[in-house]
Amino acid sequence: MKIAIIGAGNIGGAIASGLMQSKKSVDYSIVISDPDSAKTMQLSQCYAGITAEADNQKAISDAEIVLLAVKPWLVEKVLTNITLQPTQILASVAAGVTFEQLKGYTNVELPMFRIIPNTAISLQASMNIISSHNATEEQEQMIMQMFNELGLSMMVTEQQMAAGTALASCGIAYVLKYIQAGMQAGVEMGLYPHDAMMMVAQSVKGAAELILQGNTHPSTEIDKVTTPGGITIKGINALEEAGFSSAIIQAMKSSK
Ligand SMILES: NC(=O)c1ccc[n+]([C@@H]2O[C@H](COP(=O)([O-])OP(=O)(O)OC[C@H]3O[C@@H](n4cnc5c(N)ncnc54)[C@H](OP(=O)(O)O)[C@@H]3O)[C@@H](O)[C@H]2O)c1
Repeated sequence: MKIAIIGAGNIGGAIASGLMQSKKSVDYSIVISDPDSAKTMQLSQCYAGITAEADNQKAISDAEIVLLAVKPWLVEKVLTNITLQPTQILASVAAGVTFEQLKGYTNVELPMFRIIPNTAISLQASMNIISSHNATEEQEQMIMQMFNELGLSMMVTEQQMAAGTALASCGIAYVLKYIQAGMQAGVEMGLYPHDAMMMVAQSVKGAAELILQGNTHPSTEIDKVTTPGGITIKGINALEEAGFSSAIIQAMKSSK
């Protein structure tokens, strides 16, 4: 699978290196372009399957998938300066740039995908929210498979992209705030900051694995830890008195 990635920053670089490190079910060959040759050279020196390129048009010439990983305000400039083929697939990770806008910037009608990952993509542990336009089922499967190599992929409608972004892309910051707050509590109760951080982070990871691997509901898992009259239910009720659920709901709705 030949992929051109335009933009070798946080996300473009993480997708390129992530695909090289993943348990590849497909053989990926990547050309990555960026005006900053230090970023592209570093990637091409680390992985035999990555080629560095400075010219976006040259980078996309042979590509089956053109993946746009520049800042949203650069999307128009980049797309209006390249010539795409109708046989190519355009995938964009630019937050908030709609299919309607992408169509207005491209020279041909072609299958398009919008993808919103989160920063855990650097560890192939991202939640990837995907929507498609003008694509076949086979092309959708191909993009889903590619992003499953980088975490977990979920296909939604374009209208649901903003909600998905709030929950999964902005949402990772809220989980990190929970870890930070837990550390503050731990330190106040006499733990060293690093120990407290590991305790809370592993608990978050474990809670997520219970849901992801067990496919259970949070309430079912909470019931298992809340002994009647015990300390966990006291903590949960204290959380609710302090407005925990409401704060999370407000944060996610504010990020939409
Ligand atoms: N970071 C996140 O958590 C996250 C999550 C979901 C979606 N996204 C989306 O991902 C996109 C990229 O974000 P990022 O954090 O990876 O940004 P970034 O680190 O700034 O990476 C963008 C890269 O594109 C390069 N670039 C600028 N103009 C270019 C051009 N004409 N041709 C080729 N490359 C060019 C930039 O170079 P210079 O630095 O020299 O300008 C930079 O290396 C954004 O649209 C963002 O909305 C990000």
